[in-house]
Amino acid sequence: MSPALEVKEVSKIYGKGENKVAAVDSVSLALNQREVLLIMGPSGSGKTTLLSMMGCILRPTSGEVLIAGKLVSMLSEDKLPDIRKHYLGFVFQSFNLFPSLTAVENVELVLRLKGCNKENLKAQAMGLLDRVGLVKRAHLYPMDLSGGEKQRTAFARALAGDPPLILADEPTANLDSKTGRDVLMLLRALAEESAKAIAIVSHDPKAEELAHRVVFLEDGRLKA
Ligand SMILES: Nc1ncnc2c1ncn2[C@@H]1O[C@H](COP(=O)(O)OP(=O)(O)OP(=O)(O)O)[C@@H](O)[C@H]1O
Ligand SMILES: [Mg+2]
Repeated sequence: MSPALEVKEVSKIYGKGENKVAAVDSVSLALNQREVLLIMGPSGSGKTTLLSMMGCILRPTSGEVLIAGKLVSMLSEDKLPDIRKHYLGFVFQSFNLFPSLTAVENVELVLRLKGCNKENLKAQAMGLLDRVGLVKRAHLYPMDLSGGEKQRTAFARALAGDPPLILADEPTANLDSKTGRDVLMLLRALAEESAKAIAIVSHDPKAEELAHRVVFLEDGRLKA
């Protein structure tokens, strides 16, 4: 079986001439189902750039990205939203919840955007919130949720449409230590119990304990 996601010698060059920066420089890695891969490295080492290319948010300057064995880095711009919709869920450091929508409405909105069955959106959204242990808080607005609850709402949203891949950039950066650990344990459980492939970028030492595998980036290159 193909890995859930594979990058082959991907590079991203920003700028031109003297200002050229190889943000990511010929990186190859594979991510399997049921695996949490942690990408570590100093600030500016290219972690977010790499994750964005893995998630088809950013096109590599060179190299290939394959999702479920399918070459996606060559697809035209208009095909990429579909790929993101079917294969990917994203989680960001800053949660990115809509403040004017409750937790359950935030999840419903993404279900709608992903074109999920419109019949029982609320029930589907509640089902996803149940997976992250947040049913009791479903009707609260983000401002009334704790950091961990906001991040769990963001995870529920990333699970909309049941994508095989979840990419998370610094998911614990705005959380206290205990809440961060809970969120990381939830990620690991999602990988193992729901067969997701999960890549996270983090500086958090707790993430090191909970990941199945760790890779280090330095100046855009993978360190052995
Ligand atoms: N849009 C852009 N235009 C030009 N340079 C960029 C752009 N985005 C990132 N860079 C540069 O690419 C390099 C890698 O940036 P990136 O954001 O991927 O690092 P990072 O490892 O995620 O850092 P951090 O830990 O601070 O989030 C940096 O030198 C950054 O300045
Ligand atoms: Mg970053």
